[in-house]
Amino acid sequence: MTYNLKKYEKEIRDRIGEKRFLHTLRVRDTAIELAKIHNVDLESAEVAGFLHDCAKIRDHEKLMKAVKENKLLLTKEMIKAPQIIHSYLGALYARELYGIEDEDILNAITYHTTGRANMSDLEKIIFLADYIEPMRNFDGVEKARELAKKDLDAAMYFALNNTLKFLVEHDTYIVPTTVTARNYYKELNP
Ligand SMILES: [Fe+2]
Ligand SMILES: [Fe+2]
Repeated sequence: MTYNLKKYEKEIRDRIGEKRFLHTLRVRDTAIELAKIHNVDLESAEVAGFLHDCAKIRDHEKLMKAVKENKLLLTKEMIKAPQIIHSYLGALYARELYGIEDEDILNAITYHTTGRANMSDLEKIIFLADYIEPMRNFDGVEKARELAKKDLDAAMYFALNNTLKFLVEHDTYIVPTTVTARNYYKELNP
C-alpha cells in the first residue's frame, strides 16, 4: 500500500498549527529510524508518525466542536483527561479523511498518548518517537533514546514510569489504560 499524504499537509498544518506540525515531522523521522532498527514496516511508521497528532487542535472549544461534528463517542475517561481526546479523534480523521485502513496504524495513533498493555511494535515506536523526538528535553530523555534503540519494551517501561511520575507531580487525572500499560511493561522488565 502506498500512501500519498503530501496532499493533506496543508490541511493538517492549518488545523494544528506550524509548531505542532513541525513536531509531527520530527516524530515521523524518529519513527522511521526506530522502525529501521526494529524491523518494522517503514511506511507504516512514516504514516503513523506523520498523522499521530493530526487532530491536535489546541483550542479546547474547537476540539470539542470537532468531536461533536465527527460523532466521536466521548468516554468518561476522555472527559476526565481531555489531553487524550486528540489521539482518538486523530485515528478517526486518519480513517475517514486520509484513507488509512490499516488497523495497526490506526491503533498506533489511538494509543500514542496513553499507551496500553501488549502494544504492537509499531504502536510502541510511535509512542516512543513522540516521547524522544529531537526537540524533547527533559530529565531522562537521553536514557529513553538509548533504550528505544535497544529494547522497545524496556523503553516503554521507562517512558510510562516517567509519564506517570509527571502526571502525579502535576496532580493530573490518570487514565487506567496507562496504569495497566505500566504494570504490563513492568512484568516484562523484571
Ligand atoms: Fe499527541
Ligand atoms: Fe505528538
